[in-house]
This record gives sequence, C-alpha cells and structure tokens, in this order.
Amino acid sequence: MSQQDLLSNTVLNLQESATLKMSKMARELKAQGHDVISLSIGEPDFDTPAFINEAAKQALDEGYTHYTPVPGLLELREAVCTKLKRDNGLTFEPTNIVVSNGAKQTIYNLCQAMINPGDEVIIFTPYWVSYIEIVKLAGGVPVLVAADVDQDYKVTPAQVAAAITDKTKFILYSSPSNPTGSVYTKKELEALAQVIGPHEHVHIVSDEIYEHIVFDGVHESIAQFESVRDRTIVVNGMSKGFAMTGWRLGYMAAPKFIAAACTKIQGQVTSGATAFGQKAAATALLADPKATQDMMRTFLGRREFVIGQLKEIEGLKLSVPEGAFYIFPDCSNFFGKSYKGQVIKDSNDLAASILNNVHLALVAGAAFGAPNCMRISYAASQEQLADACNRLKEYFGSMV
Ligand SMILES: Cc1ncc(COP(=O)(O)O)c(C=O)c1O
Repeated sequence: MSQQDLLSNTVLNLQESATLKMSKMARELKAQGHDVISLSIGEPDFDTPAFINEAAKQALDEGYTHYTPVPGLLELREAVCTKLKRDNGLTFEPTNIVVSNGAKQTIYNLCQAMINPGDEVIIFTPYWVSYIEIVKLAGGVPVLVAADVDQDYKVTPAQVAAAITDKTKFILYSSPSNPTGSVYTKKELEALAQVIGPHEHVHIVSDEIYEHIVFDGVHESIAQFESVRDRTIVVNGMSKGFAMTGWRLGYMAAPKFIAAACTKIQGQVTSGATAFGQKAAATALLADPKATQDMMRTFLGRREFVIGQLKEIEGLKLSVPEGAFYIFPDCSNFFGKSYKGQVIKDSNDLAASILNNVHLALVAGAAFGAPNCMRISYAASQEQLADACNRLKEYFGSMV
C-alpha cells in the first residue's frame, strides 16, 4: 500500500497554499547561498508593538494560562464590540462575537457551519488563496465573479446579481483586498448591498482584516447597510493591522445563530484561542491607534515608491492599490516573450523564472484566480524594495 493510499481524498484534493509554497522555495534558495529577496509573504515586517507584548506578559503573570470560554474571553468580545462601534458604526453584543485562532480559522468555522455539499459561495476574484480551498473543504462550490485590472479588480453589482442562484449560500470577499489592494468605496458597497438585499437566503462574509491599512479614503463595511445588515458576517483579526500574525487571533461578528454554530464547531476542534493572547488583543483593540497608524504611513510611503518604480517598466498594467500591502500588476503583455532563451507562457512561468534568474520571490496570480497577474508584497524594508525593483526592471528589460 502506498503512502498516498493511507491519506484521505480530502487532503489529496487540497491545494498547498501558493504563498507559503513560494516563501518556502525562497528560503531554500537562500539556504543554498543565493541573495534572495522575498516579496511573497503576506505579513507585516514590523514586530508587534511593545505595549501589546507587555499586556500578554502581564496576563501570563496574572494567571491567564487556562482555557477560556470557547467563543473568547468576555473582556475581548466586549472590546471587539467597542471597536466595531467606534471604527465602523456597527452595533453588536458579545454573543455575536466568536474569537478564533486567526481569521483563517474564523472563515473555516463559518464554512463548516453554513455550507452543505453543493451549496454555492460567490467569491470575488482575484481572491485570497485560502477562500477556495476552505469552501471546498466544506463541500461548497466556489462561484467566481472576476474583475480585471481595467476594473481596478472590483466587481460590479450587475456581475454579482447575475451570479446569485437558489443555491447561493453566501458571498465572500476581502476589502481591502488581498491580493489586489483594492478597496470598495461606501458608494460601491451600497450598490452591492442593493442587489444582494432582496435575496433573503444570501449572506455576506465581509473579510475586513486589512481595515487598518487604507491609504486613500476610509475603510467601509457593507454591514452598515440596512438591506444586508442582519445577513452580514464581519471577519477581522489582529494579524495585519497590529502586526500580530504569529499570535493567531481573529474574530467574527455574526448573527447570533451563526456565532453559536461556529462556537459549537470550535468547541470540538480547538476549544478557543490562547488565553493570554486574548488579553493582549483586548488591550490592542482599545488602545490609541497611533501604532497602527504609524505602520500604515510606512506602508503608504512604500506603496508610493514601488508604484513609481513599476511605472517605469513598460508593458506592466497597474492599478494603484488603495489599501493592504500588495501590488498586483497584470503582466500579460510579457507572455510569449523570452528571458535568456526561455519562453514565458504564463504567470507561473514568470514567477519561477524571476525567482531562479534574479532571485526575487513573488507569487503567480494564478494562485489568486488571476493568471495574468503577479502579486508583489511590499511588506519589506526600503533597501529590499529598492533592490527588488531594480531586479524587476533588469528582468523585464532583458525580455525579448
Ligand atoms: C484576506 C485575508 N483574510 C484572512 C487572512 C488570515 O489572517 P489570519 O488567519 O492571520 O488572521 C489573510 C492572511 O493572509 C488574508 O490575507
């Protein structure tokens, strides 16, 4: 019997995370002695602000080393409610909130709690890599609604209306978006709410994890609109805005029956998130936003720099991202051209060729449902970004 035979069909059918795979390949090349720059990773390069670390240390000393209630410490769920009111104008109670081991688990819980085999989930495309696999793990059928660079990667209400069927369970998207950095405006969300509103069987899962990294305009939540308010699940977390990826803390604000269903699942799977981490998260959410805003301003400076550099590469099609820390150029003008005799057919070829030849790790757009594109993360130092942009200019400049 082969090892494969010992594994489940579930895991055999599961795609490895493309972003994690690219980071691994970059690490391997580095270990071989190459000077590799990785712009493939989806995490801030800052350390967690010191006052948050201090809150965790204090919580440890105070004995927060035991199981917490499955949906999270009441103190943290209250802090989440305060944050949602303060920043988003949304009214929730602690019984609407479930804290999990990262927003990734939040979305996993939601899919397990809501999807029956064959149910459809409309996913705005380009999408975050894990959406598709998490939906499929629950037996759901992803229905992709796509927008390209000419639409600034934002779908229209008409596209969404056309995709809704009797089987649609929910609509899933992130704004600000990973991988495109696009941010839906209040007006755009209102127009989406208008077409979704009349479909009473359709919920919305609004992933707002990049909320604190918005450069142009302000972050808006679709949950503010009456027509969809009771059917929107807001997903958020500590990873991106607070530079807390390794803490594994995310949360949802959901209708109570959905929060209770997710709590039931979590109770059998993880029992909840780490106790002292939850205490620190409550401190972070209630604190003065200065630390978060400082990081945002640094990201903004980097966006300006990298966009300026990329504009010098003739043939790249760019949409200037309003948020997150990614740029998602359309590279299709280069497909069919060659680099050092190798013909580049698609974004997978391009990512591999850039990594192997100029030792720069990016992620091929195919992983995000956008095979014409490449994702560049600018969560890296100014020196690395300057070096990476030079390598890209040299690479594209040498294609024939
Ligand atoms: C759009 C989006 N949602 C959710 C997550 C998951 O975040 P975490 O599980 O670290 O809270 C990520 C992380 O990359 C993301 O990009």
